[in-house]
Amino acid sequence: SGTLAGSVASRFEAVPPEPPRLKVALAGLGTVGLGVLRWLRGLGQDLELTGILVSDRDRTRQDDVPRELLTDNWRDLLSPPPDLVIEVIGGTGVAAELISAARGRGIAVVTANKELLARKPALGRAAATRHWPPLRAAASVGGGVPALEHAALIAADNPVQSLTGVLNGTCNFVLERLQAGDTYPAAITAAQRLGFAEADPHLDVSGLDSVYKLSLLCTTLFGTGLPPAAIECRGLETVTPEQVQAAGRQGQVLKLVAAAERHGSRVRGRVSVQALAPDDPLARGRNAENCLFIHHADGRTHALHGKGAGRYPTTCSVLADVMEIRREILGGQAEGAARKTG
Ligand code: HSE
Repeated sequence: SGTLAGSVASRFEAVPPEPPRLKVALAGLGTVGLGVLRWLRGLGQDLELTGILVSDRDRTRQDDVPRELLTDNWRDLLSPPPDLVIEVIGGTGVAAELISAARGRGIAVVTANKELLARKPALGRAAATRHWPPLRAAASVGGGVPALEHAALIAADNPVQSLTGVLNGTCNFVLERLQAGDTYPAAITAAQRLGFAEADPHLDVSGLDSVYKLSLLCTTLFGTGLPPAAIECRGLETVTPEQVQAAGRQGQVLKLVAAAERHGSRVRGRVSVQALAPDDPLARGRNAENCLFIHHADGRTHALHGKGAGRYPTTCSVLADVMEIRREILGGQAEGAARKTG
């Protein structure tokens, strides 16, 4: 059945009696990449892993990493061409070259790269629509929370007026630890150890990660891109650990909140630290949880809440996209075969 939750009825695709294995290339073997590798290998018969892009082939790796598949040249991943590339390297360098070359050759892409999608509006729009070759990015917003899929369903249902959310698990975790008395470096180190933080945690604590996610949500919800540079951003550097603790003593909770609102044909967005009452819906997320509230003009609100960061929540979103693309590819092959025999 489909991976979209909501009011869309599931339907079964016609698949060939012996479906060919989907050829998958994986770019990145960090926190998420290793989770994806393990889950892909668990799928055995359905998928064939054709290559894994890493920055350093000679580095010591876990025993379950197939060394014969490692390459440090992204071009190797596309030759011979796989059916699908999974990009979990992040950044706008190699990832951009790989995704552009793959799409140019008609190869489907699954990515978790919010920065790239937010900075390249054409890619952001491609991820928000359903064109061939598919570009899916469920893991780029919300970790294990299917935020972009729900946003697409919600926007199709009725015009959206505004959204508010806690979109960065690391900041949520760090603020919670500061309030409990941890030092800032200790809180960041713990977030890194738990696999919540970006390779460069400055992206998290500066608010930029939330800016990219907010930008992508706006593209999906409002149909109009909100470039990262147009989003006002004031991250955790605007509060000291003492202020976080003082807020706690006054019965408040500090959260890094991302918000955007439609004003006529324009959309305004902001990421900032806010002091909230403990029973505020935005304050409920614990640990690295994310939450998102999407408001329609008629007053209705949709709420999403779940694990916003970490290896396996994010892997779960990547794999959901992979399996959906597999169904599409197999469905297309079955239709093609039926046309030939019919
Ligand atoms: N570093 C990100 C976060 C990972 O903490 O939310 C998930 O996008």
